[in-house]
Amino acid sequence: MKPKLPPLLLIDDEKNMRLSLQTVMSEEGYETRAVESAEEGLELLKTDEFFMAIADARLGGMSGYEFLEKVKERWPQFPVLIITAYATPKLAVEAIKAGAIDYLAKPFAPEELIHAVTRCAERYQLIKENIDLRAGSGQVYRLDQIIGNCPQVNELKQLIKTVAPTDATVFILGESGTGKELVAGAIHALSKRANAKYVRINCAAIPEMLLESELFGHEKGSFTGAHKQKTGRVEEADQGTIFLDEIGDMSRPLQAKLLRFLEDGSFTRVGGNEERRVDVRLIAATNRDIVHAIRENLFREDLFHRLNVVQLRSPPLRERGDDILLLAEHFINQFSISMNKPVKKLADDAVAKLKSHHWPGNIRELKNVIERAVILETQGEINADHLPDFRIESKLGKSDDGMPPSFGLEEILSVQEKEIILRALEQNRFSLTKSSAQLKISKENLVERLQKLNVHMESTRDNDVVIPLKVNS
Ligand SMILES: Nc1ncnc2c1ncn2[C@@H]1O[C@H](COP(=O)(O)OP(=O)(O)OP(=O)(O)O)[C@@H](O)[C@H]1O
Ligand SMILES: [Mg+2]
Repeated sequence: MKPKLPPLLLIDDEKNMRLSLQTVMSEEGYETRAVESAEEGLELLKTDEFFMAIADARLGGMSGYEFLEKVKERWPQFPVLIITAYATPKLAVEAIKAGAIDYLAKPFAPEELIHAVTRCAERYQLIKENIDLRAGSGQVYRLDQIIGNCPQVNELKQLIKTVAPTDATVFILGESGTGKELVAGAIHALSKRANAKYVRINCAAIPEMLLESELFGHEKGSFTGAHKQKTGRVEEADQGTIFLDEIGDMSRPLQAKLLRFLEDGSFTRVGGNEERRVDVRLIAATNRDIVHAIRENLFREDLFHRLNVVQLRSPPLRERGDDILLLAEHFINQFSISMNKPVKKLADDAVAKLKSHHWPGNIRELKNVIERAVILETQGEINADHLPDFRIESKLGKSDDGMPPSFGLEEILSVQEKEIILRALEQNRFSLTKSSAQLKISKENLVERLQKLNVHMESTRDNDVVIPLKVNS
């Protein structure tokens, strides 16, 4: 009846009480483990998972109250319910203050207990779902959540509708912030697999060492820290869709394993021998210049062709014409609701400013700009003053229009050089070797330039990975 719930821990030194509580709980579909003392209970909590504990206030050794205190010190969120034959209002208040989820005086009606336990069970499941969500399950989007009417976006939406129902692998390309996640989610939502799992993995966010086991799972003891056997995300996504986001950041050895997986859906867990097979549809995305990455030997060409069955491009915002305003209005609505602040319109000077910016950060940048403007405005209207000074930003971007005349050529060039170098470092996870290769300069030259540009670094032990400390402008 409650398949996902771990057992309930029951602590009572009276045998009859343990038995009757166990009976009540098992009739309700809860599994219980009963112990006689708080000491035993604490030991069990260290090793096994429970969704809550019920403890009698008076026990042989440590009391139920002391147990509660110890539990709260170590696991503040863990629900403990105290039952007692010697209830006083004062004790009840104290128990609740000390963090008990509830306090029941014996004899109590089974319904009272069941009610409290059900609340804990629901809470446990909510917390668990949140953890699963944070672990990176993908968010599914509907096509109508992709705002935009310009020809490129309409064409993109049309393509999504066409490819979604097929099982074809889709490769989504596009600059950062152009909505690739939205596109991937919409493809799943419109596919035959819509009712099955949608699993998103951000390949850039998971350390290289762990990514393989995250994807394909591992057997117990296959590496230090692999205490338990773990199923991979591809198994979790069986019958559904897996979205490999930021795939351009995947290491070459893992690219080879992924290629094999793409050929026939087969894989082995890390440290395992058994060949496994799943049925998943793959969507991948990257904001990298993938052709460049292939040329630089950072990305396997054969994998690219495997992924590139259908290629979708999410266009940059600066190519979307009046969609900028449509999107701005959409975000104004969204933020005025979430901030409970009625903002009605965009003033003409704001419209002109939004339209003249080149949006290097694309829709993500626009969303942040609007959020800030909704916070700043006070009259129900967003005007140019509520928007950032894009001229300063364009010094760092691609366009040089609006560059103040006080800037000489050298200054402009060094601002741009710094930006290019920092971006390369970021893309290569601050590896000097990889960044200098990408920039086609020597590693020594890269270090020299960083020093000249006043970018101070802290280097790690192998001296290849550096962390910019403070960027002086
Ligand atoms: N067409 C759109 N309509 C509404 N919101 C959008 C649209 N495109 C993007 N967004 C919003 O902009 C933000 C950035 O989008 P998303 O995270 O999908 O970008 P991305 O292409 O995956 O970027 P990155 O390469 O940096 O991961 C998100 O908050 C997303 O909801
Ligand atoms: Mg993304």
